[in-house]
Amino acid sequence: MNEPLIDPREQSNTLLKQRLARQFGQAAKVYNDIAQVQLDIGFDGLQMLPQSGDSALDIGCGTGRLTRQLAHRFNKVFGIDLASGMIEVAKNDMGKTDNVQFSVADAEQLPFESGQFDCVFSSMALQWCIPIEASLGQVFSVLKPGGKAVLTILNDGSLNELKASWAQVDSIPRVNQFLSHAQIVKGARSAGFVVEDAQKTYVTWHANTRAVLNSVKKIGAGVLSDTGNKASLTRTTLAKLASAYESQYAINKHLPLTYQVSFLLLEKPR
Ligand SMILES: C[S@@+](CC[C@H](N)C(=O)[O-])C[C@H]1O[C@@H](n2cnc3c(N)ncnc32)[C@H](O)[C@@H]1O
Repeated sequence: MNEPLIDPREQSNTLLKQRLARQFGQAAKVYNDIAQVQLDIGFDGLQMLPQSGDSALDIGCGTGRLTRQLAHRFNKVFGIDLASGMIEVAKNDMGKTDNVQFSVADAEQLPFESGQFDCVFSSMALQWCIPIEASLGQVFSVLKPGGKAVLTILNDGSLNELKASWAQVDSIPRVNQFLSHAQIVKGARSAGFVVEDAQKTYVTWHANTRAVLNSVKKIGAGVLSDTGNKASLTRTTLAKLASAYESQYAINKHLPLTYQVSFLLLEKPR
């Protein structure tokens, strides 16, 4: 219960990345069975991509299920992820796709030449890169002039039910603060992109509060901050959380959890 310790704004970058790699790596084997809303978001992002092209890169590819979709449309596809556990699963699930290569790499230090890709795709990964300018700068660099990127990024309208319910239990910050949509768009413009942006809300429904917490933790995206992790998560604390969550948000005995997602279609000027 006390493992998650991830808050992109509170920890050193190295520590944060080690934790992300470990947690997502540990979740890799069950990820595809659990991460349904991430799949929905990813497919919505894929629809914004150019229909075809020569080369594409998927950043934070996880188990590679969206990367394999790119492989139908591009001649050469690369998928990178910080978590070696994710890359292992992606390689094992590769099947007959022979135009995809997976490797462990960091979105903030991409191991590719500049101007190499026609297209960059990334779904639900770059919210872990704060400040976001470094990773967006890398996306800009690896794209060819005229190349396009589609990014889906969790923004600060997310997990509000959890945040508000924890706030009724105590004042310890326990849920990540992601960047706002405006900050993400500004980061993309500063990187040099021509930006089209949109936001979309997704809501998942859960039978109880433990299921809400598990839906986030089991995919590897633990959301407790450093401070929050040091506070004990006793049965009593969880009961208080459940009471706050259920009294405020339950609809027909089901609990909602909101994901607010920034969709960016970026073009690198020629
Ligand atoms: C929620 S998963 C999304 C996976 C996949 N894109 C999908 O939508 O199914 C987030 C992924 O981002 C990866 N990630 C987080 N920070 C990263 C970074 N700095 N560089 C590369 N990958 C990163 C994690 O390891 C994890 O696999």
